[in-house]
Amino acid sequence: MSDRETNGAGSPGEATRQHATLTIGNEQYELDVRRGTIGPDVVDVGNLYKQTGRFTYDPGFTSTANCKSSITFIDGDKGELLYRGYPIDQLAENTNFLAVCYLLLYGELPTNTEFINFRRTITNHTMVHEQMTRFFTGYRRDAHPMAVMVGTVGALSSFYHDSTDITDQEQREIASHRMIAKMPTIAAMAYKYSIGQPFIYPRNDLDYTSNFLQMCFAVPSEPYIVNPIISRALDRIFILHADHEQNASTSTVRLAGSSGANPFACIASGIACLWGPAHGGANEAALNMLKEIGSVDRVPEFVAKAKDKSSGFRLMGFGHRVYKNYDPRAKVMQKTCHEILDALGHRDDPLLKIAIELERIALQDEYFIEKKLYPNIDFYSGITLRAIGFPVELFTVLFAVARTVGWIAQWKEMIEDPEQRIGRPRQLYIGPPRREFPAE
Ligand code: SDX
Repeated sequence: MSDRETNGAGSPGEATRQHATLTIGNEQYELDVRRGTIGPDVVDVGNLYKQTGRFTYDPGFTSTANCKSSITFIDGDKGELLYRGYPIDQLAENTNFLAVCYLLLYGELPTNTEFINFRRTITNHTMVHEQMTRFFTGYRRDAHPMAVMVGTVGALSSFYHDSTDITDQEQREIASHRMIAKMPTIAAMAYKYSIGQPFIYPRNDLDYTSNFLQMCFAVPSEPYIVNPIISRALDRIFILHADHEQNASTSTVRLAGSSGANPFACIASGIACLWGPAHGGANEAALNMLKEIGSVDRVPEFVAKAKDKSSGFRLMGFGHRVYKNYDPRAKVMQKTCHEILDALGHRDDPLLKIAIELERIALQDEYFIEKKLYPNIDFYSGITLRAIGFPVELFTVLFAVARTVGWIAQWKEMIEDPEQRIGRPRQLYIGPPRREFPAE
């Protein structure tokens, strides 16, 4: 295939006048090239089948853009992450999670008035229908909280018939606000149910993250004071996890939404996908891995195991499909981890020592250098969340609480994209050719 630059033109996302020429045998086909604001151009293969009778083949979507988006951009080589153009470290340092929710949903940072109105709207949607509590009695107490989240968030779709006409902009907005507001409440209920404590209602006098902490850790028998250092740290952790381009769970939400499915059910599909240890489940898997390593002097043994393909073992919290440099979120996460451990007097946490040694050895090792494997966001988040007091089973639930705004912002963008249609990938068939049913 060769590029032929005529005179590049067109606004971001539209076809430029550059073309790609595909040669198959003695046939040549012209393909449009589209240019974004930043990042790689794309070769538009939308008409490839019509033109050539052939599909593209890209099982893990390693080279495939499935949409245009203006929400989040990752430069994997530089290790840069932008939310609506703002670098993640600047957002983590200078604002709060709810303002980032506004930014991801509406494209601009809120003015003071916009923030106050948005916070009031979200606050007023944090309660769930009282009948939701009945769903919990059907779960085993020891059910994994992600199983509870998939079931309970999916059940929200049985309550809100006034926000399921996705062609109505106002209903899309109400559904988005409800999802962002109710996710922490449901997550806290899943935690309380697992430890046999009563559900704690949301409090409208607290900010988003402080409210979540009190719903998780307060008990009716005594007042609960939110630790501002913990609340600020968790709020920053939510910002880091809020969105991340077209990752597996976001692509799941987009595909589910492309059929016009109920938005709450689409978010439930995202939760299901996030649960996997290769994706959002890695924070839980990374902490369990550090526990399994057990001591600093066993780190070399596990690094060797991770390099041995036949072991099937991978360092959880290491590597990334897009980042071939340090995950910028992991740097902020590491800083937050040290702050929390210092503030809570866990500076000598043995798991932190193991994590620091594991990172030191891996970053010097040829295998990891050659494969560009760096710590990702999940490497330090587990230690931090454990120090705050969350059980390891709840880590991915916390990831889902934060990622809800990303899922819903991407879902809204997909619904509002005039180019969007139901997603329907094709395949390379390798099964048996037509054959007749055997005669008697
Ligand atoms: C998240 O997509 C997103 O944006 C996800 C996420 C988000 O915010 O939504 O960032 C959140 O999911 C972060 C990733 C969390 N997962 C883990 O930490 C699990 C451990 N990591 C790996 O399983 C892996 O790195 C993935 C799944 C994250 C990335 O998978 P890829 O891009 O398909 O990488 P790969 O499997 O092709 O690996 C490339 C090579 C392979 O070796 P070769 O076949 O080339 O010889 O690197 C090796 C892999 O064996 N490798 C690892 C490794 N990760 C990749 N070897 C040891 N330990 C690892 N962790």
